[in-house]
Amino acid sequence: MANFAIVGATGVVGTKMIERLAESKLQVDNIYLMASAKSAGKVLNFRGKDIVVEELTEHSFDKDIDYALFSAGGDTSKKYAPIAEKHGVIVIDNSSAWRMDEDIDLIVPECNSPKLNRKIIANPNCSTIQSVVPLKPLNDAFGIERITYTTYQAVSGSGKGGIDDLLNGQKGEAPKKYPHPIYNNVLPHIDSFLENGYTKEEMKMINETKKILSLGDDVKITATCVRVPVLNSHSVEIDVVFKKDTTVEKIREILRNAPGVLLVDDPENNQYPLATEATGHDEVYVGRIRKNISEDRAFHIWCVADNIRKGAASNAVQIAELLESSR
Ligand code: A2P
Repeated sequence: MANFAIVGATGVVGTKMIERLAESKLQVDNIYLMASAKSAGKVLNFRGKDIVVEELTEHSFDKDIDYALFSAGGDTSKKYAPIAEKHGVIVIDNSSAWRMDEDIDLIVPECNSPKLNRKIIANPNCSTIQSVVPLKPLNDAFGIERITYTTYQAVSGSGKGGIDDLLNGQKGEAPKKYPHPIYNNVLPHIDSFLENGYTKEEMKMINETKKILSLGDDVKITATCVRVPVLNSHSVEIDVVFKKDTTVEKIREILRNAPGVLLVDDPENNQYPLATEATGHDEVYVGRIRKNISEDRAFHIWCVADNIRKGAASNAVQIAELLESSR
């Protein structure tokens, strides 16, 4: 039995956290749903019970809460996660606020386990989660030398504002969330630009991959992150160079048995991972595995996952499941 809080319960990810927690086998004694003052009093449902949304305040964690799943933006996490931690709550935080702190675990249950030096655990970036799930067993088998990521990211990753921009853009309305129309367009711009010319999203993929897979400084990673006019599920093209020689068949064999991976790789019958098919599932769909003919020991891998489920809500709930199973 455990008591849960969801912070940001009215948002796109928060709503999915409620749904995914309800689906899980976890025994939830009490659940507290928290959001901003504007949502206080709203009624949401958890496992058939009506729950009234409370305003998040400094006193929200005075009650007996075991786990708080946060998805209310970085500023809210920076301020309230340490307050929850002080009250003995384990925080599983979906924002990027804590991910690269040395003391903070950055966890994908298929790849690594928490050390719990702190009670705040970070949920990684969505595109990173779906990429490391297939890369982890391949790194164990062949060693990764270099990765080039190119992403094709859905608008749901930007919350309600992103979804509205795509749907309203279809009707000819100007964008509010993005600097350009996303309807009928492709934006090579996710999160803000940094001095080195990369975006924050691109640097998240680079740094978080290294941290989750414990890759050394000798491993080179680069990324280009792109927003596409797709409602849900991110696609990532992974161009990976291994240290050891291998073959497409050996890679397929490993991925066929890898936790959290669904191999969909039968191009002759037009079978490959698709956003529309990954949506609603927790598995990372992987296919189009082929030798990159431009370089020795290099391979192309296409992977697709529901960015709101495995890329956010499901991964957070899976972390709670992992912790509960070892309690
Ligand atoms: P609210 O709906 O009351 O604004 P999304 O990313 O889909 O827009 O969702 C963001 C989530 O974070 C919402 O649940 C939102 O609540 C919540 N949120 C945003 N700012 C705060 C805040 N300062 N305190 C508590 N919750 C917040």
